[in-house]
Amino acid sequence: MSEFLLFNDIQQIVDNLSDVAQDFSGKTVLLTGGRGFLGRYFMEIFNLLNEKILKKNVEVIVLDNLITSGKEGAEIPFFENIEFINHNVIEKFISRKKIDYIIHAAGIASPYYYRAYPLETLEVAIHGTQNMLELAEANSAKLTFFSSSEIYGDPDPDNVPTKESYRGNVSCNGPRACYDESKRVGETLCNIYHNLKGVHTNTIRPFNVFGPGMQETDYRVLPNFTSRIKGNIPLQIYGTGKQTRTFCYITDAMEGFFRVILNGVPGEAYNIGNPNPEISVIDLIKKIEILLGKKIKYNKVNYPDSYPADEPNRRCPDIKKAKIQIKYIPKIDIDEGLRRFIQWSDKVYTGIQ
Ligand SMILES: NC(=O)c1ccc[n+]([C@@H]2O[C@H](COP(=O)([O-])OP(=O)(O)OC[C@H]3O[C@@H](n4cnc5c(N)ncnc54)[C@H](O)[C@@H]3O)[C@@H](O)[C@H]2O)c1
Repeated sequence: MSEFLLFNDIQQIVDNLSDVAQDFSGKTVLLTGGRGFLGRYFMEIFNLLNEKILKKNVEVIVLDNLITSGKEGAEIPFFENIEFINHNVIEKFISRKKIDYIIHAAGIASPYYYRAYPLETLEVAIHGTQNMLELAEANSAKLTFFSSSEIYGDPDPDNVPTKESYRGNVSCNGPRACYDESKRVGETLCNIYHNLKGVHTNTIRPFNVFGPGMQETDYRVLPNFTSRIKGNIPLQIYGTGKQTRTFCYITDAMEGFFRVILNGVPGEAYNIGNPNPEISVIDLIKKIEILLGKKIKYNKVNYPDSYPADEPNRRCPDIKKAKIQIKYIPKIDIDEGLRRFIQWSDKVYTGIQ
């Protein structure tokens, strides 16, 4: 078990999946982006499913070109029945084995990195997704595409919490367009392959997942804050700090992802996140202060060049569809999630940011 994750969390996820996981028994899964934050959880969970739950092992082929996976991702663990291949998914992948499930999680997810790699961000979501859809068609495999809550752009207040049916308010030229727009095209491709070629596709739109295992230099908000707290460096809030987010602890998110992969209605997209609470960045800092029992210094700054401006003002999922169709119910509240994350990051991070 990697020192970067918590065994209890992996165990909890596997326990929560005991009613559905048997469907992986004897099957082959292709996982892309398997050395990223979520991908590393997928690998550990499949390994524990093999050890504890499944009647016949699931075989997993993991693809990643390690472009943003950092030192955590570059350490490839050895697990029976899980094979890692260094592969860029914008190139075709030929599999020696018949594949039953494709989990397409490769992507460039952190705003800091998609600012640095705009073309790679676009290509993995468009060409990478089409390559995976071709493979799904050839293998009659079920494909799940990791899109993003960012496809909604900056929703108007009448559409917050945001339902899957909301069409979005997105700029095709803004600093975030390489990510938002390519994820939207990725979803369109899934719909075309589903409607035209009968491929079983599902789309997941995650809303700010957090937990142990996030890279310290990932520059998403929570690792950024906790690394600075560890280093006694004042936090930097981009913009007003009034922008809201919701935060979904990793055990809930992974359970939701697996429920979509196994039981999603063909062709459908699902929000996976935790709608409570919708919290501003300033209030998030206040929460961390209470948990740590100390004041935290912060400054409000303009968006630096390295970070894309044009942030959504509010972000909050409506998760009724996932509740009804796949029995997804988040269980870990923000205080408990933050407590686990901060305890972990305080041990693992060096405070270098
Ligand atoms: N974590 C979240 O809160 C969140 C929110 C919204 C969407 N998502 C989406 O979920 C997926 C996984 O997110 P994550 O947090 O694990 O991201 P991550 O950046 O930690 O991991 C993504 C992985 O994909 C790999 N990758 C990128 N381009 C590739 C390519 N061309 N070929 C092969 N591998 C490639 C990277 O090296 C990395 O290991 C991404 O597609 C992301 O856009 C995540």
